[in-house]
Amino acid sequence: MRFADTVRREGDEMSTLGRVPDLGVIRAAAQRIAAHAHRTPLMHCSTLDEMVSARLEFKCENFQKVGAFKFRGATNAVFSLEPEEAARGVATHSSGNHAQALALAARLRGVPAHVVMPRGAPASKRAAVAGYGGRIIECAPTLEARETTLAEVVRETGAVFVHPYDDYRIIAGQATAALEMLEDLASLDRVMVPVGGGGLLAGSALAIHALLPGAKVVAAEPLGADDAHRSLAAGRILPSIHPQTIADGLLTSLGERNFPIIADHVEDILTVSEGAIERAMRLLWERAKLLVEPSSALPLAALLERPGIYQGERIGIILSGGNVDLDRLPWDSTHAPSSARLARDVDGSPNRAETF
Ligand SMILES: Cc1ncc(COP(=O)(O)O)c(C=O)c1O
Repeated sequence: MRFADTVRREGDEMSTLGRVPDLGVIRAAAQRIAAHAHRTPLMHCSTLDEMVSARLEFKCENFQKVGAFKFRGATNAVFSLEPEEAARGVATHSSGNHAQALALAARLRGVPAHVVMPRGAPASKRAAVAGYGGRIIECAPTLEARETTLAEVVRETGAVFVHPYDDYRIIAGQATAALEMLEDLASLDRVMVPVGGGGLLAGSALAIHALLPGAKVVAAEPLGADDAHRSLAAGRILPSIHPQTIADGLLTSLGERNFPIIADHVEDILTVSEGAIERAMRLLWERAKLLVEPSSALPLAALLERPGIYQGERIGIILSGGNVDLDRLPWDSTHAPSSARLARDVDGSPNRAETF
């Protein structure tokens, strides 16, 4: 029996969260989002290939709507709702890419999106959510405040909570990036993605396992937020206590639904230093001309830190997003890295990082 089956709870199948998505569900998600999401390009850079002694195929989700793969999951979730559910709107607590993605997906469906954001969230992120028509509800910058405020919003409006990663509709939507990659590339030895809460990783692993079972799936995560690495080794979820990293999309801890899928289908989770993340991000900008955010640079960073680890392989890498605050570049010494900055954007609940 697979790990995922042992933790599937009774009643789950009947809930709006559904069950572990199979290939049919992932393909249905791809169809559902096709009219709204971009089919993102694959790109390649010989210089980077030489540096890591492998052939890298970049799936450019930095060119996705809202600038990140998150739009896939959010759109699948919003367009999966029954009309009467959708009419009540959707809600989430997030200051990251999921908030923007949900706001735009809701606007496309013509329903309200309520986004709980901590006071002090970067102005650029607030502006993006508001620009997509999301209603922002401010709360104190603690996880507890975010959860209580969200519960109030849901009670008042009847909106459907759409979790950033611990939701099968989200996992199926995120899986569509890997699905497209495999449609465009006949063969791959390995697929690498960054991992935060595990929506992208679980979805990618399910798609790859179904379509190309011989290919390995490997994730990369910051050393300063290494809960997925530790959880996989321990065989149970071990949340991050005070995650610290410039990769602000990866501060979250693995979700309950994500972990068993990852335990079943992921070969390894490689940890990466902050220096390597910054170096990989710079290389993607300078050499490949690909504007990615720090969280997207993790797979390349993991390869740069381990010369020749997958020598000669053809590796698909999902470049997960490109939302960079140009006033806060990691290599810009005019703003000193502080723990408040490093841990400022946290999605999801098991995480204990409360400094935003
Ligand atoms: C750009 C980017 N990459 C990776 C991730 C991690 O995704 P997940 O939480 O599904 O693991 C996020 C999450 O916000 C993100 O915004």
